Amino acid sequence: MKKRILTGDRPTGPLHLGHYVGSLENRVKLQNKYECFFIIADYQVLYDHLNDTKQISQNIRNIVLDWLSIGLNPQKSTFFIQSRIPQLAELTMYFSFLVTLARLRRNPTVKEEAGQIGIISEKDNISFGFLGFPISQAADILCFQAHLVPVGEDQKPHLEQTREIARTFNRLFGKVFPIPEALTGKFARLPGLDGQKMSKSRGNAIFLSDSPEIVRRKINSAITDPARIHPTDIGHPEICNIFQYHKAFNSFEESQEIREFCKKGKIGCVACKKRLTDVINKFLEPIRERREFFAKKPLSFIGEILLEGNSHTREVAEETMQKVRKAIHFDYKNLLKEK
Ligand code: TRP
Repeated sequence: MKKRILTGDRPTGPLHLGHYVGSLENRVKLQNKYECFFIIADYQVLYDHLNDTKQISQNIRNIVLDWLSIGLNPQKSTFFIQSRIPQLAELTMYFSFLVTLARLRRNPTVKEEAGQIGIISEKDNISFGFLGFPISQAADILCFQAHLVPVGEDQKPHLEQTREIARTFNRLFGKVFPIPEALTGKFARLPGLDGQKMSKSRGNAIFLSDSPEIVRRKINSAITDPARIHPTDIGHPEICNIFQYHKAFNSFEESQEIREFCKKGKIGCVACKKRLTDVINKFLEPIRERREFFAKKPLSFIGEILLEGNSHTREVAEETMQKVRKAIHFDYKNLLKEK
Protein backbone atom coordinates (compact mmCIF):
# COMPACT_ATOMS: atom_id res chain seq x y z
CA MET A 1 0.00 0.00 0.00
CA LYS A 2 1.17 3.51 -0.81
CA LYS A 3 1.83 5.80 2.11
CA ARG A 4 -0.31 8.88 2.41
CA ILE A 5 0.31 12.58 2.13
CA LEU A 6 -2.04 15.22 3.45
CA THR A 7 -1.39 18.89 2.96
CA GLY A 8 -3.13 21.94 1.62
CA ASP A 9 -3.81 25.64 1.60
CA ARG A 10 -6.13 28.26 2.99
CA PRO A 11 -8.33 29.85 0.32
CA THR A 12 -7.45 33.41 1.30
CA GLY A 13 -5.90 34.42 -2.03
CA PRO A 14 -3.55 33.34 -4.77
CA LEU A 15 -0.61 31.06 -4.00
CA HIS A 16 2.86 32.57 -4.20
CA LEU A 17 6.49 31.58 -4.70
CA GLY A 18 6.89 30.99 -0.96
CA HIS A 19 4.17 28.35 -1.12
CA TYR A 20 5.91 26.88 -4.12
CA VAL A 21 9.34 26.37 -2.58
CA GLY A 22 7.93 25.51 0.84
CA SER A 23 5.40 22.88 -0.13
CA LEU A 24 3.98 22.86 -3.67
CA GLU A 25 7.19 21.69 -5.29
CA ASN A 26 7.32 18.69 -2.98
CA ARG A 27 3.70 17.85 -3.71
CA VAL A 28 4.35 17.70 -7.42
CA LYS A 29 7.40 15.53 -6.87
CA LEU A 30 5.64 13.12 -4.56
CA GLN A 31 2.25 12.74 -6.14
CA ASN A 32 3.25 9.57 -8.00
CA LYS A 33 4.86 7.93 -5.02
CA TYR A 34 2.22 8.62 -2.39
CA GLU A 35 -1.52 8.55 -2.18
CA CYS A 36 -2.12 12.30 -1.90
CA PHE A 37 -4.94 14.31 -0.37
CA PHE A 38 -4.90 18.07 -0.86
CA ILE A 39 -7.13 20.08 1.42
CA ILE A 40 -8.63 23.49 0.79
CA ALA A 41 -8.87 24.66 4.38
CA ASP A 42 -11.91 26.92 4.30
CA TYR A 43 -12.56 26.77 8.06
CA GLN A 44 -9.16 28.34 8.48
CA VAL A 45 -10.26 31.39 6.53
CA LEU A 46 -12.63 32.28 9.34
CA TYR A 47 -9.99 33.14 11.87
CA ASP A 48 -8.82 36.25 10.06
CA HIS A 49 -11.34 36.90 7.27
CA LEU A 50 -14.63 36.67 9.10
CA ASN A 51 -15.98 39.71 7.25
CA ASP A 52 -14.82 38.55 3.89
CA THR A 53 -16.48 35.18 3.41
CA LYS A 54 -18.09 36.12 0.08
CA GLN A 55 -14.66 35.83 -1.49
CA ILE A 56 -14.02 32.25 -0.41
CA SER A 57 -15.76 30.57 -3.31
CA GLN A 58 -13.74 32.50 -5.86
CA ASN A 59 -10.56 31.87 -3.89
CA ILE A 60 -11.24 28.14 -3.87
CA ARG A 61 -11.54 28.17 -7.63
CA ASN A 62 -8.24 30.03 -7.89
CA ILE A 63 -6.46 27.64 -5.56
CA VAL A 64 -7.55 24.74 -7.73
CA LEU A 65 -6.29 26.62 -10.78
CA ASP A 66 -2.99 27.26 -9.00
CA TRP A 67 -2.71 23.56 -8.18
CA LEU A 68 -3.51 22.48 -11.72
CA SER A 69 -1.13 25.02 -13.17
CA ILE A 70 1.87 23.71 -11.23
CA GLY A 71 1.05 20.16 -12.28
CA LEU A 72 -0.96 18.63 -9.46
CA ASN A 73 -3.22 16.12 -11.12
CA PRO A 74 -6.69 15.33 -9.78
CA GLN A 75 -6.55 12.02 -11.55
CA LYS A 76 -3.70 10.95 -9.33
CA SER A 77 -4.46 12.95 -6.20
CA THR A 78 -7.58 13.94 -4.33
CA PHE A 79 -8.56 17.62 -4.03
CA PHE A 80 -11.19 18.39 -1.41
CA ILE A 81 -12.80 21.11 0.70
CA GLN A 82 -12.40 20.88 4.47
CA SER A 83 -15.91 22.00 5.43
CA ARG A 84 -17.47 19.38 3.17
CA ILE A 85 -16.04 16.54 5.25
CA PRO A 86 -18.17 16.18 8.41
CA GLN A 87 -15.75 13.59 9.80
CA LEU A 88 -13.14 16.33 10.20
CA ALA A 89 -15.43 18.30 12.49
CA GLU A 90 -16.19 15.18 14.52
CA LEU A 91 -12.52 14.30 14.90
CA THR A 92 -11.71 17.89 15.88
CA MET A 93 -14.30 17.58 18.64
CA TYR A 94 -12.69 14.46 20.12
CA PHE A 95 -9.20 15.91 19.82
CA SER A 96 -10.22 19.15 21.52
CA PHE A 97 -10.32 17.26 24.82
CA LEU A 98 -6.75 16.08 24.46
CA VAL A 99 -5.10 19.51 24.38
CA THR A 100 -4.80 22.11 27.11
CA LEU A 101 -5.34 25.82 26.56
CA ALA A 102 -1.86 26.45 27.90
CA ARG A 103 -0.43 24.27 25.15
CA LEU A 104 -2.41 26.06 22.46
CA ARG A 105 -1.28 29.46 23.71
CA ARG A 106 2.35 28.46 23.28
CA ASN A 107 2.02 27.89 19.52
CA PRO A 108 4.38 30.42 17.89
CA THR A 109 2.55 30.45 14.54
CA VAL A 110 -0.79 31.19 16.18
CA LYS A 111 0.90 33.95 18.18
CA GLU A 112 2.45 35.44 15.08
CA GLU A 113 -0.77 35.36 13.08
CA ALA A 114 -2.78 36.74 15.96
CA GLY A 115 -0.27 39.58 16.24
CA GLN A 116 -0.42 40.27 12.54
CA ILE A 117 -4.15 40.85 12.52
CA GLY A 118 -3.91 43.09 15.54
CA ILE A 119 -4.98 40.90 18.42
CA ILE A 120 -2.72 42.52 20.94
CA SER A 121 -3.52 40.44 23.95
CA GLU A 122 -4.14 37.14 22.34
CA LYS A 123 -4.83 35.67 25.78
CA ASP A 124 -8.10 37.52 26.07
CA ASN A 125 -9.14 38.46 22.58
CA ILE A 126 -8.59 35.48 20.40
CA SER A 127 -11.58 33.36 19.36
CA PHE A 128 -12.00 29.76 20.43
CA GLY A 129 -11.73 28.67 16.79
CA PHE A 130 -8.58 30.67 16.12
CA LEU A 131 -6.74 29.47 19.20
CA GLY A 132 -7.90 25.95 18.47
CA PHE A 133 -7.28 25.73 14.75
CA PRO A 134 -4.13 23.63 15.19
CA ILE A 135 -6.46 20.99 16.66
CA SER A 136 -8.59 21.10 13.56
CA GLN A 137 -5.44 20.91 11.45
CA ALA A 138 -4.39 17.82 13.41
CA ALA A 139 -7.74 16.31 12.50
CA ASP A 140 -7.11 17.17 8.82
CA ILE A 141 -3.89 15.22 8.91
CA LEU A 142 -4.76 12.32 11.17
CA CYS A 143 -8.17 11.62 9.64
CA PHE A 144 -6.25 10.27 6.66
CA GLN A 145 -3.66 8.54 8.77
CA ALA A 146 -1.14 10.51 6.75
CA HIS A 147 2.56 9.72 7.05
CA LEU A 148 4.01 12.78 5.40
CA VAL A 149 2.96 16.43 5.44
CA PRO A 150 4.79 18.72 2.97
CA VAL A 151 4.56 22.20 4.47
CA GLY A 152 6.40 25.49 4.80
CA GLU A 153 8.48 26.20 7.87
CA ASP A 154 5.65 28.22 9.48
CA GLN A 155 3.47 25.12 9.73
CA LYS A 156 5.93 23.09 11.76
CA PRO A 157 4.45 24.04 15.15
CA HIS A 158 1.11 22.67 13.95
CA LEU A 159 2.77 19.45 12.91
CA GLU A 160 4.39 19.16 16.32
CA GLN A 161 0.98 19.66 17.89
CA THR A 162 -0.47 17.02 15.57
CA ARG A 163 2.18 14.52 16.59
CA GLU A 164 1.45 15.16 20.25
CA ILE A 165 -2.27 14.63 19.71
CA ALA A 166 -1.62 11.39 17.82
CA ARG A 167 0.61 10.14 20.62
CA THR A 168 -1.88 11.10 23.32
CA PHE A 169 -4.74 9.44 21.47
CA ASN A 170 -2.75 6.27 20.85
CA ARG A 171 -1.69 6.10 24.48
CA LEU A 172 -5.22 6.56 25.81
CA PHE A 173 -7.19 4.49 23.31
CA GLY A 174 -4.79 2.19 21.49
CA LYS A 175 -2.76 2.71 18.39
CA VAL A 176 -4.91 4.20 15.64
CA PHE A 177 -2.69 6.92 14.19
CA PRO A 178 0.74 6.83 12.59
CA ILE A 179 2.95 9.68 13.80
CA PRO A 180 3.23 11.98 10.77
CA GLU A 181 6.43 13.68 9.62
CA ALA A 182 6.74 17.21 8.26
CA LEU A 183 8.55 17.64 4.99
CA THR A 184 9.77 21.18 4.36
CA GLY A 185 11.08 22.40 1.04
CA LYS A 186 14.68 23.19 0.16
CA PHE A 187 14.02 26.84 0.89
CA ALA A 188 11.64 26.59 3.76
CA ARG A 189 11.44 30.30 4.34
CA LEU A 190 11.68 32.39 1.20
CA PRO A 191 11.47 36.02 2.35
CA GLY A 192 8.97 38.47 0.88
CA LEU A 193 10.18 41.27 -1.38
CA ASP A 194 10.55 43.50 1.67
CA GLY A 195 12.61 40.91 3.55
CA GLN A 196 9.75 40.00 5.91
CA LYS A 197 7.75 36.79 5.87
CA MET A 198 6.10 36.43 2.47
CA SER A 199 2.36 36.80 2.72
CA LYS A 200 -0.52 38.09 0.69
CA SER A 201 -1.62 40.49 3.38
CA ARG A 202 1.80 42.16 3.55
CA GLY A 203 1.75 42.82 -0.19
CA ASN A 204 5.28 41.43 -0.57
CA ALA A 205 4.62 38.27 -2.55
CA ILE A 206 5.06 37.18 -6.15
CA PHE A 207 2.06 35.09 -7.11
CA LEU A 208 2.18 32.08 -9.39
CA SER A 209 -0.49 33.84 -11.45
CA ASP A 210 1.36 37.19 -11.81
CA SER A 211 1.95 38.45 -15.35
CA PRO A 212 5.53 39.02 -16.58
CA GLU A 213 5.08 42.78 -16.26
CA ILE A 214 3.87 42.56 -12.67
CA VAL A 215 6.77 40.27 -11.78
CA ARG A 216 9.15 42.81 -13.25
CA ARG A 217 7.61 45.69 -11.32
CA LYS A 218 7.52 43.78 -8.05
CA ILE A 219 11.16 42.72 -8.31
CA ASN A 220 12.22 46.25 -9.25
CA SER A 221 10.67 47.65 -6.12
CA ALA A 222 12.11 44.95 -3.85
CA ILE A 223 14.45 45.83 -1.02
CA THR A 224 18.07 44.68 -1.37
CA ASP A 225 21.20 45.01 0.74
CA PRO A 226 20.71 48.44 2.38
CA ALA A 227 24.47 49.06 2.46
CA ARG A 228 24.60 49.32 -1.32
CA ILE A 229 23.91 52.65 -2.92
CA HIS A 230 26.15 52.55 -5.99
CA PRO A 231 26.47 49.50 -8.23
CA THR A 232 30.17 49.34 -7.39
CA ASP A 233 29.62 49.21 -3.61
CA ILE A 234 30.60 45.97 -1.93
CA GLY A 235 27.45 43.84 -1.49
CA HIS A 236 26.34 41.30 1.13
CA PRO A 237 24.40 38.63 -0.75
CA GLU A 238 23.81 36.56 2.36
CA ILE A 239 21.58 39.27 3.85
CA CYS A 240 19.98 40.32 0.54
CA ASN A 241 16.55 38.87 -0.08
CA ILE A 242 16.91 39.11 -3.86
CA PHE A 243 19.87 36.78 -3.54
CA GLN A 244 17.67 34.30 -1.68
CA TYR A 245 15.48 34.20 -4.79
CA HIS A 246 18.50 33.60 -7.00
CA LYS A 247 19.42 30.70 -4.77
CA ALA A 248 15.91 29.26 -4.94
CA PHE A 249 15.17 29.78 -8.63
CA ASN A 250 18.39 30.39 -10.54
CA SER A 251 20.89 27.70 -11.51
CA PHE A 252 23.59 26.91 -8.98
CA GLU A 253 26.34 28.28 -11.27
CA GLU A 254 24.61 31.54 -11.97
CA SER A 255 23.73 32.20 -8.36
CA GLN A 256 27.35 31.50 -7.37
CA GLU A 257 28.48 33.97 -10.00
CA ILE A 258 26.06 36.59 -8.74
CA ARG A 259 27.21 36.03 -5.18
CA GLU A 260 30.84 36.63 -6.18
CA PHE A 261 30.08 39.63 -8.41
CA CYS A 262 27.92 41.23 -5.73
CA LYS A 263 30.57 40.77 -3.05
CA LYS A 264 33.13 42.49 -5.27
CA GLY A 265 30.82 45.26 -6.42
CA LYS A 266 30.91 43.95 -9.97
CA ILE A 267 27.16 43.72 -10.47
CA GLY A 268 24.67 46.38 -9.40
CA CYS A 269 21.25 45.72 -7.90
CA VAL A 270 19.46 46.84 -11.05
CA ALA A 271 21.29 44.32 -13.22
CA CYS A 272 20.95 41.61 -10.60
CA LYS A 273 17.20 42.21 -10.41
CA LYS A 274 16.91 42.14 -14.17
CA ARG A 275 18.53 38.70 -14.22
CA LEU A 276 16.22 37.51 -11.50
CA THR A 277 13.16 38.83 -13.34
CA ASP A 278 14.13 36.80 -16.39
CA VAL A 279 14.66 33.68 -14.30
CA ILE A 280 11.35 33.99 -12.46
CA ASN A 281 9.42 34.74 -15.62
CA LYS A 282 10.96 31.77 -17.34
CA PHE A 283 10.04 29.59 -14.39
CA LEU A 284 6.46 30.89 -14.39
CA GLU A 285 5.94 30.61 -18.14
CA PRO A 286 4.74 26.98 -18.31
CA ILE A 287 2.72 27.54 -15.13
CA ARG A 288 0.95 30.47 -16.78
CA GLU A 289 0.29 28.45 -19.91
CA ARG A 290 -1.29 25.60 -18.00
CA ARG A 291 -3.34 28.02 -15.91
CA GLU A 292 -4.70 29.65 -19.04
CA PHE A 293 -5.60 26.26 -20.46
CA PHE A 294 -7.59 25.27 -17.37
CA ALA A 295 -9.08 28.72 -16.78
CA LYS A 296 -10.79 28.54 -20.17
CA LYS A 297 -12.81 25.53 -19.13
CA PRO A 298 -16.31 26.04 -17.74
CA LEU A 299 -16.71 26.52 -13.99
CA SER A 300 -18.26 23.06 -13.75
CA PHE A 301 -14.86 21.56 -14.60
CA ILE A 302 -13.46 22.65 -11.25
CA GLY A 303 -16.74 21.90 -9.49
CA GLU A 304 -16.58 18.31 -10.70
CA ILE A 305 -13.02 17.84 -9.49
CA LEU A 306 -14.03 19.02 -6.04
CA LEU A 307 -17.29 17.09 -5.86
CA GLU A 308 -15.54 13.89 -6.74
CA GLY A 309 -12.68 14.66 -4.39
CA ASN A 310 -15.05 15.47 -1.51
CA SER A 311 -16.93 12.27 -1.99
CA HIS A 312 -13.83 10.07 -2.14
CA THR A 313 -12.40 11.89 0.87
CA ARG A 314 -15.53 11.29 2.95
CA GLU A 315 -15.24 7.57 2.30
CA VAL A 316 -11.61 7.43 3.37
CA ALA A 317 -12.28 9.67 6.38
CA GLU A 318 -15.18 7.47 7.44
CA GLU A 319 -12.89 4.43 7.50
CA THR A 320 -10.64 6.18 9.98
CA MET A 321 -13.59 7.42 12.02
CA GLN A 322 -14.91 3.93 12.46
CA LYS A 323 -11.61 2.97 14.02
CA VAL A 324 -11.63 6.11 16.15
CA ARG A 325 -15.18 5.60 17.42
CA LYS A 326 -14.45 2.02 18.20
CA ALA A 327 -11.25 2.92 20.05
CA ILE A 328 -13.01 5.42 22.30
CA HIS A 329 -16.11 3.24 22.68
CA PHE A 330 -18.29 5.67 20.80
CA ASP A 331 -19.48 3.12 18.31
CA TYR A 332 -22.26 1.92 20.65
CA LYS A 333 -22.31 -1.30 18.75
CA ASN A 334 -24.82 -3.14 20.91
CA LEU A 335 -27.03 -0.20 21.69
CA LEU A 336 -27.50 1.10 18.19
CA LYS A 337 -28.01 -2.14 16.34
CA GLU A 338 -29.58 -1.78 12.90
CA LYS A 339 -32.53 -4.06 12.43
N1 TRP B 1 -2.57 25.98 7.85
C1 TRP B 1 -2.20 25.71 6.48
C2 TRP B 1 -1.78 27.01 5.82
O1 TRP B 1 -2.03 28.09 6.35
C3 TRP B 1 -3.31 25.05 5.69
C4 TRP B 1 -3.71 23.69 6.23
C5 TRP B 1 -4.90 23.35 6.79
C6 TRP B 1 -2.90 22.54 6.26
N2 TRP B 1 -4.91 22.06 7.14
C7 TRP B 1 -3.72 21.51 6.83
C8 TRP B 1 -1.59 22.24 5.86
C9 TRP B 1 -3.21 20.23 7.05
C10 TRP B 1 -1.11 20.96 6.08
C11 TRP B 1 -1.91 19.96 6.66
O2 TRP B 1 -1.22 27.00 4.75
